[in-house]
Amino acid sequence: MSLYDYLLTQDGIITKESLLYPFEERGLQFGDGVYEVIRIYQGSFDLLEEHIERLYRSAEAIRLEVPFAKDTLIASLGQLTEKNDVQTDAKLYLQVTRGSAPREHSFPDVPSNFYAYIEPSERPVSLLQKGVRTILADDIRWDLCYIKSLNLLPNILAKQTAKDKGAFEAILHKDGIVTEGSSSNVFIIKDHILFTHPAAKNILHGCVRSRVLALAPNTGLQVEETAFTTDQLLQADEVFITSTTSEIMPVIEIEGKQIGDGTPGDNTRALQRAYEKESGIQATAFA
Ligand code: PDD
Repeated sequence: MSLYDYLLTQDGIITKESLLYPFEERGLQFGDGVYEVIRIYQGSFDLLEEHIERLYRSAEAIRLEVPFAKDTLIASLGQLTEKNDVQTDAKLYLQVTRGSAPREHSFPDVPSNFYAYIEPSERPVSLLQKGVRTILADDIRWDLCYIKSLNLLPNILAKQTAKDKGAFEAILHKDGIVTEGSSSNVFIIKDHILFTHPAAKNILHGCVRSRVLALAPNTGLQVEETAFTTDQLLQADEVFITSTTSEIMPVIEIEGKQIGDGTPGDNTRALQRAYEKESGIQATAFA
Protein backbone atom coordinates (compact mmCIF):
# COMPACT_ATOMS: atom_id res chain seq x y z
CA MET A 1 0.00 0.00 0.00
CA SER A 2 1.38 3.38 -0.87
CA LEU A 3 1.87 6.38 1.36
CA TYR A 4 -0.51 9.26 1.52
CA ASP A 5 0.75 12.15 -0.65
CA TYR A 6 1.56 14.77 1.97
CA LEU A 7 4.20 14.76 4.70
CA LEU A 8 4.82 17.09 7.60
CA THR A 9 8.36 18.48 7.89
CA GLN A 10 9.93 21.21 10.02
CA ASP A 11 9.13 23.53 7.09
CA GLY A 12 5.43 22.62 6.96
CA ILE A 13 3.33 20.23 4.87
CA ILE A 14 4.93 19.19 1.56
CA THR A 15 4.40 16.46 -1.04
CA LYS A 16 6.34 13.24 -0.56
CA GLU A 17 8.26 13.82 -3.83
CA SER A 18 9.70 17.08 -2.50
CA LEU A 19 11.38 15.53 0.55
CA LEU A 20 15.07 15.33 -0.37
CA TYR A 21 17.89 14.55 2.04
CA PRO A 22 21.61 15.11 1.53
CA PHE A 23 23.73 11.97 1.97
CA GLU A 24 25.35 13.52 5.01
CA GLU A 25 22.34 13.25 7.31
CA ARG A 26 22.66 12.27 10.97
CA GLY A 27 19.78 9.80 10.86
CA LEU A 28 21.19 8.07 7.78
CA GLN A 29 24.81 7.99 8.91
CA PHE A 30 24.56 7.53 12.70
CA GLY A 31 20.95 6.58 13.44
CA ASP A 32 21.20 9.82 15.44
CA GLY A 33 17.53 10.44 16.09
CA VAL A 34 14.28 9.26 17.62
CA TYR A 35 10.94 8.17 16.21
CA GLU A 36 7.32 7.30 16.94
CA VAL A 37 4.65 5.13 15.31
CA ILE A 38 1.12 6.35 16.03
CA ARG A 39 -2.15 4.53 15.31
CA ILE A 40 -4.93 6.13 13.29
CA TYR A 41 -8.36 4.52 13.51
CA GLN A 42 -10.86 5.71 10.89
CA GLY A 43 -8.96 8.96 10.40
CA SER A 44 -8.44 9.78 14.11
CA PHE A 45 -5.27 9.41 16.17
CA ASP A 46 -5.22 6.97 19.07
CA LEU A 47 -3.07 7.70 22.17
CA LEU A 48 -1.66 10.78 20.39
CA GLU A 49 -0.65 12.75 23.47
CA GLU A 50 1.05 9.72 25.02
CA HIS A 51 3.16 9.23 21.88
CA ILE A 52 4.05 12.92 21.68
CA GLU A 53 5.06 12.98 25.35
CA ARG A 54 7.31 9.96 24.77
CA LEU A 55 8.82 11.60 21.67
CA TYR A 56 9.89 14.62 23.73
CA ARG A 57 11.23 12.36 26.50
CA SER A 58 13.29 10.38 23.95
CA ALA A 59 14.58 13.56 22.31
CA GLU A 60 15.54 15.12 25.62
CA ALA A 61 17.39 11.96 26.64
CA ILE A 62 19.71 12.32 23.63
CA ARG A 63 19.89 16.15 23.84
CA LEU A 64 17.97 16.56 20.59
CA GLU A 65 15.60 19.41 19.87
CA VAL A 66 12.17 18.66 18.38
CA PRO A 67 11.58 21.55 15.97
CA PHE A 68 8.01 22.18 17.19
CA ALA A 69 6.36 23.07 20.47
CA LYS A 70 4.22 20.11 21.66
CA ASP A 71 0.86 21.75 20.99
CA THR A 72 1.99 23.01 17.56
CA LEU A 73 3.10 19.50 16.66
CA ILE A 74 -0.22 17.98 17.77
CA ALA A 75 -2.14 20.59 15.75
CA SER A 76 0.11 20.10 12.70
CA LEU A 77 -0.36 16.31 12.77
CA GLY A 78 -4.11 16.93 12.79
CA GLN A 79 -3.71 19.18 9.74
CA LEU A 80 -1.68 16.44 8.06
CA THR A 81 -4.51 13.89 8.40
CA GLU A 82 -6.96 16.49 7.03
CA LYS A 83 -4.73 17.42 4.09
CA ASN A 84 -4.40 13.72 3.24
CA ASP A 85 -8.12 13.19 3.80
CA VAL A 86 -7.37 10.11 5.92
CA GLN A 87 -10.60 8.20 6.59
CA THR A 88 -9.37 4.65 7.05
CA ASP A 89 -7.22 2.77 9.56
CA ALA A 90 -3.66 3.95 9.10
CA LYS A 91 -0.42 4.64 10.95
CA LEU A 92 1.78 7.67 11.19
CA TYR A 93 5.56 7.38 11.31
CA LEU A 94 7.58 10.36 12.47
CA GLN A 95 11.24 10.88 13.13
CA VAL A 96 13.52 13.64 14.35
CA THR A 97 17.25 13.58 13.64
CA ARG A 98 20.17 15.81 14.55
CA GLY A 99 20.10 17.34 11.06
CA SER A 100 22.26 17.44 7.95
CA ALA A 101 25.96 18.21 8.40
CA PRO A 102 29.44 16.93 7.39
CA ARG A 103 30.06 13.58 9.08
CA GLU A 104 31.62 14.04 12.48
CA HIS A 105 30.61 12.18 15.66
CA SER A 106 30.16 15.22 17.90
CA PHE A 107 26.95 17.26 17.55
CA PRO A 108 26.78 19.72 14.63
CA ASP A 109 25.33 23.19 15.12
CA VAL A 110 22.48 22.75 12.62
CA PRO A 111 18.70 22.50 12.91
CA SER A 112 17.04 19.11 13.48
CA ASN A 113 15.34 17.31 10.60
CA PHE A 114 11.74 16.20 11.09
CA TYR A 115 9.32 14.29 8.93
CA ALA A 116 6.03 12.52 9.46
CA TYR A 117 4.12 10.47 6.92
CA ILE A 118 0.96 8.38 6.96
CA GLU A 119 0.28 5.04 5.34
CA PRO A 120 -2.85 2.89 5.31
CA SER A 121 -2.61 0.07 7.88
CA GLU A 122 -5.33 -2.47 8.58
CA ARG A 123 -5.82 -4.03 11.99
CA PRO A 124 -4.39 -7.59 12.06
CA VAL A 125 -7.84 -8.97 12.89
CA SER A 126 -7.27 -12.59 11.94
CA LEU A 127 -4.07 -12.80 14.05
CA LEU A 128 -5.79 -11.01 16.93
CA GLN A 129 -8.38 -13.78 16.85
CA LYS A 130 -6.07 -16.75 16.38
CA GLY A 131 -2.92 -15.65 18.24
CA VAL A 132 0.69 -15.90 17.11
CA ARG A 133 3.80 -18.03 17.47
CA THR A 134 6.96 -16.52 18.96
CA ILE A 135 10.58 -17.40 19.65
CA LEU A 136 13.02 -16.47 22.43
CA ALA A 137 16.11 -14.39 21.71
CA ASP A 138 18.92 -12.86 23.75
CA ASP A 139 18.39 -9.19 24.50
CA ILE A 140 21.72 -7.82 23.25
CA ARG A 141 20.63 -4.16 23.23
CA TRP A 142 22.08 -1.24 25.18
CA ASP A 143 20.86 -0.10 28.62
CA LEU A 144 18.66 2.80 27.47
CA CYS A 145 15.87 1.11 25.55
CA TYR A 146 13.29 3.53 26.98
CA ILE A 147 14.60 5.94 24.34
CA LYS A 148 12.78 5.24 21.08
CA SER A 149 15.97 5.60 19.09
CA LEU A 150 16.46 4.99 15.37
CA ASN A 151 19.18 2.46 16.24
CA LEU A 152 17.26 -0.77 15.80
CA LEU A 153 19.83 -3.30 14.55
CA PRO A 154 19.40 -5.79 17.44
CA ASN A 155 15.62 -5.46 17.11
CA ILE A 156 15.53 -6.08 13.37
CA LEU A 157 17.95 -9.00 13.62
CA ALA A 158 15.77 -10.63 16.30
CA LYS A 159 12.61 -9.98 14.26
CA GLN A 160 14.18 -11.49 11.13
CA THR A 161 15.23 -14.60 13.09
CA ALA A 162 11.62 -14.91 14.23
CA LYS A 163 10.38 -14.50 10.67
CA ASP A 164 12.89 -17.08 9.37
CA LYS A 165 11.41 -19.55 11.88
CA GLY A 166 7.84 -18.77 10.85
CA ALA A 167 7.17 -16.81 14.05
CA PHE A 168 5.57 -13.40 14.51
CA GLU A 169 7.80 -11.98 17.23
CA ALA A 170 11.02 -12.58 19.16
CA ILE A 171 10.60 -12.31 22.93
CA LEU A 172 13.84 -10.91 24.35
CA HIS A 173 15.46 -11.91 27.62
CA LYS A 174 18.60 -10.84 29.45
CA ASP A 175 20.12 -13.62 31.56
CA GLY A 176 16.77 -15.39 31.65
CA ILE A 177 14.73 -12.29 32.59
CA VAL A 178 12.15 -11.35 29.97
CA THR A 179 12.46 -7.68 28.98
CA GLU A 180 10.17 -7.08 25.98
CA GLY A 181 9.63 -8.11 22.35
CA SER A 182 11.71 -6.92 19.40
CA SER A 183 8.94 -4.39 18.69
CA SER A 184 6.43 -5.00 21.46
CA ASN A 185 5.95 -5.30 25.23
CA VAL A 186 5.34 -8.72 26.79
CA PHE A 187 2.75 -9.72 29.41
CA ILE A 188 1.95 -12.99 31.16
CA ILE A 189 -1.09 -13.98 33.21
CA LYS A 190 -0.71 -16.52 36.02
CA ASP A 191 -3.53 -17.27 38.48
CA HIS A 192 -5.38 -14.06 37.47
CA ILE A 193 -2.33 -11.88 38.05
CA LEU A 194 -1.00 -9.87 35.11
CA PHE A 195 2.78 -9.49 35.07
CA THR A 196 4.93 -7.27 32.87
CA HIS A 197 8.46 -5.90 33.15
CA PRO A 198 8.52 -2.62 35.11
CA ALA A 199 8.89 0.61 33.10
CA ALA A 200 12.63 0.72 33.75
CA LYS A 201 15.30 2.17 31.46
CA ASN A 202 15.92 -1.14 29.69
CA ILE A 203 12.51 -1.40 27.98
CA LEU A 204 10.37 0.89 25.88
CA HIS A 205 7.47 2.30 27.89
CA GLY A 206 4.83 1.27 25.40
CA CYS A 207 1.70 3.37 25.00
CA VAL A 208 -0.42 0.24 24.59
CA ARG A 209 1.33 -1.25 27.65
CA SER A 210 0.13 1.70 29.75
CA ARG A 211 -3.40 1.39 28.46
CA VAL A 212 -3.46 -2.35 29.22
CA LEU A 213 -2.25 -1.74 32.79
CA ALA A 214 -5.01 0.83 33.25
CA LEU A 215 -7.71 -1.48 31.84
CA ALA A 216 -6.64 -4.71 33.55
CA PRO A 217 -8.22 -4.12 36.99
CA ASN A 218 -11.62 -3.59 35.28
CA THR A 219 -11.34 -7.07 33.77
CA GLY A 220 -10.72 -8.67 37.16
CA LEU A 221 -6.94 -8.95 36.89
CA GLN A 222 -4.47 -7.94 39.55
CA VAL A 223 -1.51 -6.03 38.09
CA GLU A 224 2.15 -6.66 39.02
CA GLU A 225 4.82 -4.63 37.25
CA THR A 226 7.41 -7.23 38.15
CA ALA A 227 9.94 -8.89 35.87
CA PHE A 228 9.53 -12.61 35.17
CA THR A 229 11.82 -15.36 33.91
CA THR A 230 11.66 -17.33 30.67
CA ASP A 231 10.55 -20.34 32.77
CA GLN A 232 7.63 -18.35 34.18
CA LEU A 233 6.84 -17.20 30.65
CA LEU A 234 6.68 -20.76 29.35
CA GLN A 235 4.53 -21.85 32.29
CA ALA A 236 2.11 -18.92 32.16
CA ASP A 237 -1.64 -19.46 31.81
CA GLU A 238 -1.77 -16.78 29.10
CA VAL A 239 0.80 -14.68 27.25
CA PHE A 240 0.30 -11.66 24.99
CA ILE A 241 2.36 -8.91 23.43
CA THR A 242 1.33 -5.31 22.84
CA SER A 243 2.19 -2.59 20.35
CA THR A 244 0.58 0.22 18.42
CA THR A 245 0.13 -1.91 15.31
CA SER A 246 -0.38 -5.31 17.02
CA GLU A 247 -2.70 -4.04 19.80
CA ILE A 248 -3.14 -6.92 22.30
CA MET A 249 -1.81 -9.91 20.39
CA PRO A 250 -2.31 -13.33 22.00
CA VAL A 251 0.79 -15.57 22.05
CA ILE A 252 -0.16 -19.23 21.65
CA GLU A 253 3.29 -20.74 21.21
CA ILE A 254 6.86 -19.94 22.33
CA GLU A 255 9.81 -21.87 20.89
CA GLY A 256 7.40 -24.60 19.79
CA LYS A 257 5.86 -24.93 23.26
CA GLN A 258 2.12 -24.38 23.48
CA ILE A 259 0.81 -21.80 25.95
CA GLY A 260 -2.35 -22.89 27.82
CA ASP A 261 -4.51 -24.92 25.45
CA GLY A 262 -2.93 -23.29 22.39
CA THR A 263 -5.70 -20.76 21.87
CA PRO A 264 -6.04 -17.17 23.17
CA GLY A 265 -7.08 -17.21 26.83
CA ASP A 266 -10.24 -15.74 28.35
CA ASN A 267 -8.44 -12.93 30.19
CA THR A 268 -6.62 -11.89 27.03
CA ARG A 269 -9.95 -11.87 25.20
CA ALA A 270 -11.49 -9.68 27.90
CA LEU A 271 -8.58 -7.25 27.60
CA GLN A 272 -8.92 -7.18 23.80
CA ARG A 273 -12.60 -6.29 24.16
CA ALA A 274 -11.84 -3.58 26.74
CA TYR A 275 -9.12 -2.20 24.46
CA GLU A 276 -11.46 -1.94 21.51
CA LYS A 277 -14.01 -0.16 23.64
CA GLU A 278 -11.43 2.26 25.06
CA SER A 279 -10.02 3.07 21.59
CA GLY A 280 -13.51 3.53 20.18
CA ILE A 281 -12.85 1.00 17.44
CA GLN A 282 -15.15 -1.54 15.92
CA ALA A 283 -15.61 -4.65 18.03
CA THR A 284 -14.10 -7.78 16.53
CA ALA A 285 -15.59 -11.19 17.11
CA PHE A 286 -13.30 -12.36 19.92
CA ALA A 287 -15.18 -15.59 20.46
N1 PDD B 1 7.29 -0.43 18.14
N2 PDD B 1 8.93 -2.21 22.60
C1 PDD B 1 9.59 -1.96 21.46
C2 PDD B 1 11.02 -2.32 21.37
C3 PDD B 1 8.90 -1.36 20.37
O1 PDD B 1 9.57 -1.09 19.25
C4 PDD B 1 7.52 -1.06 20.50
C5 PDD B 1 6.74 -0.42 19.40
C6 PDD B 1 6.87 -1.35 21.71
C7 PDD B 1 5.43 -1.03 21.95
O2 PDD B 1 5.22 0.36 22.10
P1 PDD B 1 3.82 1.03 21.74
O3 PDD B 1 2.79 0.31 22.54
O4 PDD B 1 3.97 2.45 22.18
O5 PDD B 1 3.61 0.89 20.26
C8 PDD B 1 7.61 -1.92 22.75
C9 PDD B 1 6.70 0.31 17.05
C10 PDD B 1 5.27 -0.02 16.79
C11 PDD B 1 7.59 0.18 15.83
O6 PDD B 1 8.79 0.30 16.01
O7 PDD B 1 7.09 -0.02 14.72
